[in-house]
Amino acid sequence: MRHQSGGALFGLLGLLLPVFFPSLFSPLSHASAFSEWNAIKPRHTHLLKSAVERQSSDSVQNEFWNPLSDPGWRPCIQTTNAPSLPEKSRGYVQVFLDGGLNQQRMAVCDAVAVAKILNATLVIPYLEVNPVWQDSSSFGDIFDVEHFIDVLKDDIRIVRDLPDEFSWSTREYYATAIRPTRIKTAPVRATVNWYLENVSPVLQSYGIAAIAPFSHRLTYDNLPMDIQRLRCKVNFEGLIFVPHIRALGDSLVNRLRYPSDDSRATAGNYLREVTDSTAKKVGKFVVLHLRFDKDMAAHSACDFGGGKAEKLALAKYRQVIWQGRVLNSQFTDEELRSQGRCPLTPEEIGLLLAALGFDNTTRLYLASHKVVTEENQSNILQETA
Ligand SMILES: *[C@@H]1O[C@H](CO)[C@@H](O)[C@H](O)[C@H]1NC(C)=O
Ligand SMILES: *[C@@H]1O[C@H](CO)[C@@H](O)[C@H](O)[C@H]1NC(C)=O
Ligand SMILES: *[C@@H]1O[C@H](CO)[C@@H](O)[C@H](O)[C@H]1NC(C)=O
Repeated sequence: MRHQSGGALFGLLGLLLPVFFPSLFSPLSHASAFSEWNAIKPRHTHLLKSAVERQSSDSVQNEFWNPLSDPGWRPCIQTTNAPSLPEKSRGYVQVFLDGGLNQQRMAVCDAVAVAKILNATLVIPYLEVNPVWQDSSSFGDIFDVEHFIDVLKDDIRIVRDLPDEFSWSTREYYATAIRPTRIKTAPVRATVNWYLENVSPVLQSYGIAAIAPFSHRLTYDNLPMDIQRLRCKVNFEGLIFVPHIRALGDSLVNRLRYPSDDSRATAGNYLREVTDSTAKKVGKFVVLHLRFDKDMAAHSACDFGGGKAEKLALAKYRQVIWQGRVLNSQFTDEELRSQGRCPLTPEEIGLLLAALGFDNTTRLYLASHKVVTEENQSNILQETA
């Protein structure tokens, strides 16, 4: 429980981002395109109205606030593992991580695994700036680097920076031309053998391999057990936030749990309290990360009822952000809906919460970059909970 509240909170910010950004080193200018999709209309007003008017009984309420029963999960790390640091490093592995923070966290686990598979030295991963989140923090701004290196010191070698002889190997160097040390073609969920066959020779020849893009580039099927355990170790022991993020997380959760009138007044754009402070269940709250941003709406290829204007706007985002490479485009809207491929709108989330038994006494917070249909849909949630 080292991450505790801070971890939960920051985890939320990247939780629902199943996005692959193929154009790793492209300029981030398309963020401006996000301003053109107008608010969508609520579509289930009568349903919502009756849901809002229903009060759930105390027994229903008690049930959903209770912790889930223990599913019997056990830690995946065998701490008794004998140290297995290879005698000699076979070179440096550099990775450039796109996606949101959660994707980057997973990719860090994979990067350690890949460096281990190759008996290489890992350079502290480079975090790309994501066009949606616009966060320019480096690995060391977010995670405790010293702790990371120390926890993993018996498993792999990790360095903060490349030695001088490799200092040419930078993001800029790879962005400006085709370079033999860049591994550009790692398939999504590449196998151990793929790395041995394609990256080992590069390490052999140049002493360094820069893998970009890297997010989601390691399979989880049939990975050797010791590599799986290492991924677990990175995730649950190696990665902790820097102290000031942990402190901020704790204080945020504290405020969410026990809001005072003061904190209501100073709540910023990121966490907005949308319910009445008469909530009777002190300490209990729901945080939603809708991730219903325009890029996700466009990526889903779904129809949100906004007619021709919406269709055109979303088609444009698809073109700009994913160069038209959106798998869902091959399906009709009916197919997408019946296959559960459409993100829930804020309105639909409101219905879902009401159906679960949450009512207007529930304290509800929105954690989000920006909700697409901010005005209308926040109102809807406000009515619901
Ligand atoms: C909550 O819903 C109940 C039942 O519909 C209603 O009587 C009450 O006024 C609502 N409370 C607030 C704060 O909206
Ligand atoms: C890595 O080192 C281990 C022993 O330390 C060896 O068995 C394995 O073949 C090496 N793998 C590569 C890719 O060099
Ligand atoms: C939704 O937002 C639009 C534009 O802000 C506004 O004109 C409209 O009245 C809103 N609809 C509802 C149901 O709040």
